[in-house]
Formats: sequence, C-alpha cells, structure tokens
Amino acid sequence: MNALVIYDSVFGNTKEIALAISEPLRAELNVKTLYVKEITPEHLGWAQLLVMGAPTRAFSPSEDMKKALKGLSKQNVTGLKIAVFDTRIDEQDVDSSKLRFLMRRFGYAAETIEKKLVKKGAIVVLPAKGFYVQDSEGPLKDGEPQRAKEWAREIMTKIGISSK
Ligand SMILES: Cc1cc2nc3c(=O)[nH]c(=O)nc-3n(C[C@H](O)[C@H](O)[C@H](O)COP(=O)(O)O)c2cc1C
Repeated sequence: MNALVIYDSVFGNTKEIALAISEPLRAELNVKTLYVKEITPEHLGWAQLLVMGAPTRAFSPSEDMKKALKGLSKQNVTGLKIAVFDTRIDEQDVDSSKLRFLMRRFGYAAETIEKKLVKKGAIVVLPAKGFYVQDSEGPLKDGEPQRAKEWAREIMTKIGISSK
C-alpha cells in the first residue's frame, strides 16, 4: 500500500510529528512524506492512504493547508483512506477562560481538514487527532512524537496491517 504523509509547518512542530508518524508507517508501507506545497495530483493518484496535518492557527488550518485543500479535486480524494492530525495548544495550559471558551467553540485544524476531505469523498480511518505544543511557537510537549508513532501504528491496525 502507498501512503502519503502531507504536512504544513511554520515553526517545525507539525513537521516533527509528520516525521514521527512516517517512521512506523515506513516499516510496512511505501511512504512519501511531503511538505504541503510540494503535492501534485499525481501524488494523490499514487496513494491509497493519506495522513494529513497542519498547525492550528486562529482555530483553523494554516493558510497554506487551506489553499492545498481547495486545490484537491473530488477525483483526487474519492475513496482515499485518511487520518488527519494537527498541532495545537492544550486548552488546559490557557489561563484566559474567554480564550478557552473560543477554543472549545471554534475548534482546531484537524477536524476542519477531515470534514473537507470527507466532503470530497475520503474515508476516515481514525478520528482527527491533536498533538500539543508547549507554547504558541512550540516546542512540542514531552512525549508527543512518541504518541504520534503510536497513532501511526493504530492507523495501520485499523487498515488491517500488523506493525512490527
Ligand atoms: C498566529 C497564531 C495563531 C494560533 N492560533 C492557535 C489556535 O487558534 N489554537 C491553538 O490551539 N493554537 C494556536 N496557535 C499555536 C499553533 O498551533 C502552533 O504555532 C503550532 O502548533 C506550531 O506548529 P508548527 O511549528 O508546525 O508551525 C497559534 C499560533 C500562532 C503563531
């Protein structure tokens, strides 16, 4: 099976998660890990599994990820198995109750990406997942790359591939 791991990243945290996810996938699948600006329709045509992630910015996916999603046609995405992730701030680390309310109300990047891909015909393998940064520019919280690797193994189990 061919898998694409596509990420956007401003400060490097989402890239770090994308690389951590790619590692266990690579042991079992043909994997291409690509920066969102590198993707072409041919890449999408090549893959059966798409793992896609972006930083959460103003409760939404980053601008480059939004642009890339707009550029994906139904033909590119229909039938593709997907698992979507983002990086975000842990609500528990936010002092302002107003901001916590807004985060709960308006959400994070991953859910939005997942919805847009499903609208174009993708099939969700595992629900959207968030990985936490310590501060607005990172670094990642301790253990997050490890959690990302575990999530990648769960993805493989879900699609019937036993990981080593
Ligand atoms: C302008 C800006 C807006 C942000 N908005 C949010 C947000 O709405 N919710 C959230 O959880 N984190 C937010 N963050 C934190 C980002 O999610 C964090 O920068 C990101 O996880 C880092 O990923 P990257 O290193 O791959 O760019 C914001 C950060 C910046 C700089």
